[in-house]
Amino acid sequence: MGVQCQDVQQVKSAADAATVTPRAELQGATFAYQEGQPIFRDFSWQITPGDAWAVIGPSGCGKSTLLYLLTGLRQPQSGNVRVDGKPVERPRPSSTTGLILQDYGLLPWATVWDNVRLGLQLRGVPKAQQAEQVANWLERLGITALRDHYPAQLSGGQRQRTAIARTLVFQPNLLLMDEPFNSLDALTRERLQNVVLELILEHGLTTVLVTHNIEEAVFLGQRVLVLNQPPSAATTIFENRHDDPHAYRAAPAFLTQCTELRTLLVGSEA
Ligand SMILES: Nc1ncnc2c1ncn2[C@@H]1O[C@H](COP(=O)(O)OP(=O)(O)OP(=O)(O)O)[C@@H](O)[C@H]1O
Ligand SMILES: [Mg+2]
Repeated sequence: MGVQCQDVQQVKSAADAATVTPRAELQGATFAYQEGQPIFRDFSWQITPGDAWAVIGPSGCGKSTLLYLLTGLRQPQSGNVRVDGKPVERPRPSSTTGLILQDYGLLPWATVWDNVRLGLQLRGVPKAQQAEQVANWLERLGITALRDHYPAQLSGGQRQRTAIARTLVFQPNLLLMDEPFNSLDALTRERLQNVVLELILEHGLTTVLVTHNIEEAVFLGQRVLVLNQPPSAATTIFENRHDDPHAYRAAPAFLTQCTELRTLLVGSEA
């Protein structure tokens, strides 16, 4: 373990860079909304397959924008965005890049079951398989009893869990999450953090979690990208790899890392 801040994006090692195609990367990307100030300027960041990243920084620093760039919902004015080695020139299909948005984006006219199922139907997944996968994810996220409810009949946290199920049912190889656990009570939040941890550990899923929450960033981010007020040019990376992720929440090292990250955030605002 250990904390390490780097001013420049580092690939884990030159050997890695030579052999592993990054799952996703920005190369010298500059992005501004319309005529506004750039949010990112000549910004480079690399996500290796299996990486679990958290992205943290003050409101308005560009965290959501970074996810839009990775999914192709926004294009940089200059530089490149690549996923699995290919330039991202249009929005990526949700079967490969899963995006859980801040506002959930559920279909108001569809039940919980159908919200999770419809994407599979559109992709031509056989009916029996659709039902099996939907049932599995509703169960894992603790919303089976709500299967016939419509979004308007759900609490914020229940909507959020439906949105998470709808994304995970595709089994994407890159999962981008924009503050996915915000409206959840503390224990549900921990339970869903554990679900994401299982996905990372058991399925080698590559994840990027945007969060305002320092504890969440340290629990789920084996590496944390710290953004500051725009424009972001260099990356600040907080290294947080540890040996026993399951026991990490209760480990003394967890608290130490939270304190270190808090210090780094406060320092970067100064
Ligand atoms: N569609 C848009 N048009 C113009 N400016 C935008 C647009 N979307 C976002 N911005 C601006 O870009 C900046 C970055 O926004 P972004 O949503 O990426 O921030 P964020 O870090 O996700 O913030 P939060 O933590 O509040 O969600 C902000 O100043 C915001 O006002
Ligand atoms: Mg945001």
